[in-house]
Amino acid sequence: RILILDFGSQYTQLIARRVRELGVYCELHPWDMADEAVRAFAPKGVILSGSPESVLEAGSPRAPQAVWDLQVPVLGICYGMQTMAAQFGGKVSPGKVKEFGYAEIRARGHSQLLRDIEDRVNDEGHGLLDVWMSHGDHVSEIPAGFKLIASTKDVPIAGMADESRGYYALQFHPEVTHTTQGARIYSRFLHEICSCGNAWSAGNIISDAIERVRAQVGNRKVLLGLSGGVDSSVVAALLHKAIGEQLVCVFVDHGLLRHQEGDQVMKIFAEHLGVKVIRVNAEDRFLSELKGVSDPEAKRKIIGRLFVEVFDEEAHKLEGIDFLAQGTIYPDVIESAGAKTGKAHVIKSHHNVGGLPERMKMQLVEPLRELFKDEVRAIGVELGLPREMVYRHPFPGPGLGVRILGEVTKAAADTLRLADHIFIEELRRSGWYDQTSQAFAVFLPVKSVGVTGDGRRYEPVIALRAVQTIDFMTAHWAHLPYELLDVCSRRIVNEIPGVSRVVYDISGKPPATIEWE
Ligand code: XMP
Repeated sequence: RILILDFGSQYTQLIARRVRELGVYCELHPWDMADEAVRAFAPKGVILSGSPESVLEAGSPRAPQAVWDLQVPVLGICYGMQTMAAQFGGKVSPGKVKEFGYAEIRARGHSQLLRDIEDRVNDEGHGLLDVWMSHGDHVSEIPAGFKLIASTKDVPIAGMADESRGYYALQFHPEVTHTTQGARIYSRFLHEICSCGNAWSAGNIISDAIERVRAQVGNRKVLLGLSGGVDSSVVAALLHKAIGEQLVCVFVDHGLLRHQEGDQVMKIFAEHLGVKVIRVNAEDRFLSELKGVSDPEAKRKIIGRLFVEVFDEEAHKLEGIDFLAQGTIYPDVIESAGAKTGKAHVIKSHHNVGGLPERMKMQLVEPLRELFKDEVRAIGVELGLPREMVYRHPFPGPGLGVRILGEVTKAAADTLRLADHIFIEELRRSGWYDQTSQAFAVFLPVKSVGVTGDGRRYEPVIALRAVQTIDFMTAHWAHLPYELLDVCSRRIVNEIPGVSRVVYDISGKPPATIEWE
């Protein structure tokens, strides 16, 4: 396994994903990991990430001494290269300008890391690589014992190595897809320089997780809140495979789910996979508590509180439950670790079932804790969940509650479900579903006049929203073809009596958020 020390770069998670994609297990830890923890981790190699900081600042981060004492290969990326240079007596200088974007690297000499990896060869027979740069400072003097392995027109020292110790450093970012040979460079480091195998695959992740769950749970019982979302669905499939009947799922249907979603969840889990699922139809309870409430945050609070209450009540009816399973995934773990140490770059404020474990005083089972979303999806498919479910767009915990603007009513929810269903169906049909990150319909409680064959309509408006994004922190509105929007608009107004008009949302995030509330 590989240890990645995070100095705060926006690309650190990407490094971890690349390493895992190459079949090597890795973990990401903050740069100030204690020496004992580094030794206890016993990695076969270490990767030092980039950082928004400057090694020239007093008190800026450095790699722990234990990393250098391990006697394993180390790869420094960007800031990781600069701290390596600084720690071994080289020199780092401030750049006049920040370099950001494509650069052409010339691989120098014959390092094991870059040998024969190239996009082109120049007249003198040197390999040339297209890479992605993003840095301010640069190494201006190579430390003793290191040699130059890469340079660009603007950065004479863009890579260095002390091959006797297995220390390599690159100023550019091989984890970014703009660096076309990036995967080969990582593979060279992992498989050849660190001698890692490539056993980390969906099949192995599953068998490994099953073993651990069985060891943790024994013959006791586990409770899982199943929402139909990707993470809890994969946990259900995995736990069912690991412990069968010892798993009990509670599925709280708050009546604010998508078209036929509740029935689908039951069909896949209870009927198809044979998982024990208790469905709680709580629509009336949710709607009656939401009556007259129109403030978005107030609605969120009510839905969140009721969800916990209903789940709690069901859990109390069950006997002999010792564990609560959760679909926590690795980015959640990294985020909350980052939040604790003040190193979080991206903080998600939306959490579905906050507060549950504390209240319930049960031990947690979190079999996805070490997995990235793409790994969760891969094992979901491997476990037999339908692709369509595993690759579904995210859906907020409060569901249609935040997509019906203002007061939530059953009539509005029913109308919205149908409109949303038509939109999604057409997106799938046209191949646009997978090209958008999230798409949905929104119910606007304003009435507008329309005219149909038999007369005048005065009905609410439906807005369609489709966005493209990597991290949901910023997003572009999707430039859907007019023909597609046209089909959706016609179908929605023709097939749903309670809608007079359809509009398309052309706001990016920022300034707008993805959801309307
Ligand atoms: P916004 O609207 O903040 O949405 O741009 C970003 C992402 O978060 C989802 N979202 C939520 N998820 N509970 C959730 O579980 C919520 O209250 C909530 N609000 C927004 C939203 O769907 C999008 O994917």
